[in-house]
This record gives sequence, C-alpha cells and structure tokens, in this order.
Amino acid sequence: MHAFQAQELVGSIVARHPALSRVFERAGIDYCCGGKRTLEEACRSKGIDTEEILLRLDAATKSEGNEPQVASMSLSELTNHIESVHHAYLRAELPRLDAITAKVASVHGESEPRLREIRSVYEDLMQEIYAHMLKEERVLFPMVRALESGSASACFTCGTLEHPIRQMEHEHEWVGNALQSLRQLSGDYTPPDWACNTYRAMLDGLAHLERDFHQHIHKENNVLFPRASDLERRRSA
Ligand SMILES: [Fe+2]
Ligand SMILES: [Fe+2]
Repeated sequence: MHAFQAQELVGSIVARHPALSRVFERAGIDYCCGGKRTLEEACRSKGIDTEEILLRLDAATKSEGNEPQVASMSLSELTNHIESVHHAYLRAELPRLDAITAKVASVHGESEPRLREIRSVYEDLMQEIYAHMLKEERVLFPMVRALESGSASACFTCGTLEHPIRQMEHEHEWVGNALQSLRQLSGDYTPPDWACNTYRAMLDGLAHLERDFHQHIHKENNVLFPRASDLERRRSA
C-alpha cells in the first residue's frame, strides 16, 4: 500500500505535501503548469515507471520536512506568502541574473554563441515576469483578498476572477517554456570544463530560478487559483 495512488493529480499531491515537489523535480515531472495530470499520465509522458515514483514518494513522505503548509493558509495569507517569498526573491534575483547573463554573453558569446541565445531568452523572460508580478499584485491578488473578506464592492468593476486567472495561467505557461529553453540551451545547466566562476554562477542562478518558479507557479495554479474560483462560485450561488 503506497502513500499515494497512480490516479491522483500531481498538483494536488504537491499541494498537500510541498516537500514532495523535490521528487517530481528530480524526475523531470512538471507539477506546476502540468499539475492537472494524474501521476500515471505524468510518468508515462516521461517514460518513467509509475511504481518507482510511488516508492520514491513513500520514502520522501517519511522524511517530509517542515515546509510551510500552504494548503492550510487562508487565501489572503497565501497571496501574502507568495508576494513575500517568491515575488521578493524574483525582485532580488532578476537584476543580479540580468547583470551576470549580460557579462557572460559579452565575454564568452563570441566563442560560445549559445550564451548569446541564453542572454536573449533571459531578457524576454525577465520583462515578462516583471509585468506578470505587477498584474498579480495590483489586480488579481487584491481581488482575491476582497472576495475572501467579503468586501466584494472593492473590486466591483473588476468582473469575475475567471479571466485574470486564465490570463495568469497562460503567462505561467509562457514563462515555463522560456525556462525550458534556458535549460536546453545550457545543457541542463551543466558548465563546460573551461567555464569561469561567473559562468558557473549564472548556471547555478538559472537552475535555482527554475526551481523557485516551479514552487511559485504550483502554489498559484494548483492551490490559490482553484480555491479562489471555488469560493467565488459559492459566493455567487
Ligand atoms: Fe506570482
Ligand atoms: Fe503567477
């Protein structure tokens, strides 16, 4: 008897047990934008034995740490958590990676053209993420807080959550694809033997950016958005 079933949704497993995201990260299984697939479907698409992943999840469940349990937070607490942890991380890290990717491309781009491609993808990604965070912080998250507190008149002119949520999910997918391009261009973030420390720091930073983004999007796509939509449906019933 396993702790989880093959028919459970990947996103809902991570929603209840955030620490298990590491098992999916290591297996290359997308639990954020692709979180609405069953464990079995996700394993099949990656050519991985479902039984093997179920065993790894069993082992990881036993050693589960004290990750913040987002599933037990109120919607307002969750929006605050996302802003103070993930958006704050991005606001600190994006400018640093901006400088590093520019430097590595200008110093090594001539001999390694892929580094210029990495720089170009990163620039687009950074602009997209800045714009995306502003939309969440100024429009969607205030709507969610107003809905939860019952002060719906505060966003009377905003319409329902459906459209902004769909738009955010679409943008998450765009960012996920850009991160996938960075992973491919950098050979899974593996530095060549000759890489200088700045090059290595760039790959390490991009790999961390991807990990944090997966956690971040998982909390929005699989926890915040479905719960907020559900609350809106119940309130308008
Ligand atoms: Fe966000
Ligand atoms: Fe988002």
